[in-house]
Amino acid sequence: MIVHPRLLVLVALTQILGALVMELRPVAGSVANTNASRDEFGLHTDDAAVPRNGRAAFINLYGLVNPPDTMTGYAPTRDALAEMQASGAVEVLLQALREPRFEVRYPISFKFEKEVWSDPCAIIEMSEDGDIDTRFPSYAVKPVDDGDFVAHAAIAVFLAALERHVVNVPLDPGCFLTFNNSRGAHKRGAIGQGDRRVLRTYSARDLDQLRQMTDAPGPIFPIAPIVAALTTHAA
Ligand SMILES: [Fe+2]
Repeated sequence: MIVHPRLLVLVALTQILGALVMELRPVAGSVANTNASRDEFGLHTDDAAVPRNGRAAFINLYGLVNPPDTMTGYAPTRDALAEMQASGAVEVLLQALREPRFEVRYPISFKFEKEVWSDPCAIIEMSEDGDIDTRFPSYAVKPVDDGDFVAHAAIAVFLAALERHVVNVPLDPGCFLTFNNSRGAHKRGAIGQGDRRVLRTYSARDLDQLRQMTDAPGPIFPIAPIVAALTTHAA
């Protein structure tokens, strides 16, 4: 078996709050765009408010129960950007995505007393060697300046392009799905009839940044010191 060297560094399982292995299951009356909702869970990257080094590098899902026609989808950022470039006349939008003109909301699951938004950040960062970092909870991202119409348009056009490149798979019992949390966005379609149970764990390249921000050893980290370290307008 050939193992790519980059995979060898994925040694650390990690989690901000919760447990190393979380069971994802629908709960009646849950808020939209959460794992517990039965409605479609829109395109997003996990923990987008956290810098890349503190975020899950890979999301690993194991199916236990999956109702018919319930799909998990992944859309590669590169494919969406290529489509935007090919369509022409959107260079200003592509540029906007790479500028710190956006804020992303911390997940509802962190149970803050009120909404907490990140400091200004870019939606996409690209390195010279072709690496891509995507921070895009499509239902929890907004321009820093509400009057920034280019940024509003960039969000809408990028989301539409991602939607056209979603690859759907059913997480049926025994299926294991792992994907990169920075190179694309993922979603879950509406859950069909009956129960659904999926096990989820995160992989990180290392835990150094989370340890520095929280002064905790991990691998499960508290959220409050992370927000305090990252935002200038924390709750
Ligand atoms: Fe997710």
